[in-house]
Amino acid sequence: MTEPTHSVRFITLEGPDGSGKSLQARLLGERLRAAGHDVVVTREPGGTRTGEQVREIVLGAGRGLDPMADALLFSAQRAQHVAEVIRPALEAGRVVVCDRHRDSTICYQGYGSGLDVEAMRALQDLATRGLLPDLTILLDVSVDVGLERRRAGRPDELNKFELDGAFDRGYHERVRAGYLSEAAAGGRWRIVDASRDPGAVAADVAAIALEALATGR
Ligand code: TYD
Repeated sequence: MTEPTHSVRFITLEGPDGSGKSLQARLLGERLRAAGHDVVVTREPGGTRTGEQVREIVLGAGRGLDPMADALLFSAQRAQHVAEVIRPALEAGRVVVCDRHRDSTICYQGYGSGLDVEAMRALQDLATRGLLPDLTILLDVSVDVGLERRRAGRPDELNKFELDGAFDRGYHERVRAGYLSEAAAGGRWRIVDASRDPGAVAADVAAIALEALATGR
């Protein structure tokens, strides 16, 4: 019996605030399309109408929610995103590039806010009905570089985790350490140094994704 060939199609970008994921997700989408792939670029929280509404609740007016409420809301929008956008695209044979996914809840609400990491992992398995990314690229950046970048950007882009006064260094250090600890498991994870200029980061991200798409690993 021949083994089914496992193809890499579901790619997630993860990282601390200010790691440049949104730009890198867009650039990766363009690079993969130029290489002939049929690509959907999407993001969390968001990606669906419900997801954008949840984004408004967790990052907008609903600031200060209990971490478990955050975890459940992020996971609820993820369930809808998987059902409505990600799984149908994968089933149609398309490549999905997602800016944040399950590991954001594990690292922010788990490692960052101190909720049980294994419970957060189990919650993700439920929300996604067991769908795992084939490849996860961690855009690693220090808390200082990440914060500096966000401050240099448009002030209205600062979310509740970054607003002056609300900034909690320890929290962001735990998030970053959480990502590095998750990525140390290897498997679907790759780490890219995102403190460099965006062009250099984009080149590395594209090379990793193209290699994975070509080899299925
Ligand atoms: P966003 O403005 O999209 O930040 P970024 O451009 O850095 O992705 O805001 C997303 C914020 O929400 C970010 O601080 C991380 C946080 N978040 C969680 O805490 N848990 C999650 O599951 C997700 C998806 C995001």
